[in-house]
Amino acid sequence: MNAAGASPRPFDAAAAGAYVSAHPQLAPRVGAVETVERPDEGNINEVYLVRGERGGVVLKQGLPWVRILRDWPLSAERTAREAHLMATWEPFGEGLVPELIHYDAERHVLAMELVEDHLIYRDALAAGDVHADGAAALGRLLARAAFHTSSFRLGPEELAAAAAGAANAAMHELMEQVVYEQPYAGDPRNVYDEEVAPTVAALARDRAYRSGIAALKIAHRTRGEALVHGDLHTGSVMVGPGSVRVIDAEFARYGPVAWDVGELWAHERIAAVCLAARREPAAEAAGSLVATTWEAFGAQLRELWPERRDPTFTAEFVDDWLEDVRALAVRFAGAEIARRVIGIGKADEVEALSSALRPAVAAQLLDEAHAAVCRGEGGAWPG
Ligand SMILES: Nc1ncnc2c1ncn2[C@@H]1O[C@H](COP(=O)(O)OP(=O)(O)OP(=O)(O)O)[C@@H](O)[C@H]1O
Ligand SMILES: [Mg+2]
Repeated sequence: MNAAGASPRPFDAAAAGAYVSAHPQLAPRVGAVETVERPDEGNINEVYLVRGERGGVVLKQGLPWVRILRDWPLSAERTAREAHLMATWEPFGEGLVPELIHYDAERHVLAMELVEDHLIYRDALAAGDVHADGAAALGRLLARAAFHTSSFRLGPEELAAAAAGAANAAMHELMEQVVYEQPYAGDPRNVYDEEVAPTVAALARDRAYRSGIAALKIAHRTRGEALVHGDLHTGSVMVGPGSVRVIDAEFARYGPVAWDVGELWAHERIAAVCLAARREPAAEAAGSLVATTWEAFGAQLRELWPERRDPTFTAEFVDDWLEDVRALAVRFAGAEIARRVIGIGKADEVEALSSALRPAVAAQLLDEAHAAVCRGEGGAWPG
């Protein structure tokens, strides 16, 4: 409900164009509006790509429901959380975060730079375009975010204020449901090939696995160490020639650094396994992405380490901290892989496989998820 008590009105193309023309922060960048389009992807928000004679902007409007499921309520505050992450990460983002141009708290609308000539990373990967440099850039970005928004740079009061200002409990609760609950609760949206059903049932019954999932749920909820993106899968990344951009930060909050790392690893791994199943030559290069991301993360963190504020964090502690993040990220990656095979929001790469390949790939991914969640193991992960 808005201030007047009426339901907020979703943008349509005409309203999105008019909004741009009416706002002095936006109109000069676009000039006379020429086209207003919805993107091919995206389910939760009203997103419009507005182009004009001078350039383009993206409008993203959060409504108090899920765009494609209007009877599913969802806090519109998510748009504020996304704008906040974009503004906070921008100073150290080295261009990886699109410029936030405007945020309208009353209408839950943000406007950002329109990134032209890029593809969603998931689609590029599926086409065999691996972008190893992009995976490294993402690792460095996550390290800079981990450093600049955490106790490495902030004192206790600053950290508490930053975490309070980034609270995003409603979106986090949705994430908990889809990662830790629905995949194991016989949800009717858990749809998969019948050959996979025994593996899914075995996971749901496996006490050690379920304890591992429980521990991850607590870590995810309570380990508020840094401002994390919160949903950094390959669908939240756009890639172009020598360029990578991070979008869709509506799950941003103070959370575990290892969640962003582990979620990204999970999707790099899913892409590699699917390419291998399809016998695509790019499979080998894709198989190195997890290591590439992690090496870049570690190198960037070590480079920043001399700038830490607190001498309690000794030179040696960086190794222990990195090991702690690595070990937790492996387990988060396992939980994320399992949910993308079992639950809602399935991995497109797996879904797109032929029915001759898909069950075996799903079973392999679930075996890897089990090893990662229960034992922090698996050949795919950095050791
Ligand atoms: N800055 C941008 N420049 C160009 N295209 C963009 C930009 N931001 C978003 N898009 C396009 O719009 C799509 C939807 O954006 P986004 O993922 O932020 O929306 P969403 O409603 O949060 O989607 P989801 O259902 O995945 O959460 C993206 O997949 C991308 O194709
Ligand atoms: Mg989104």
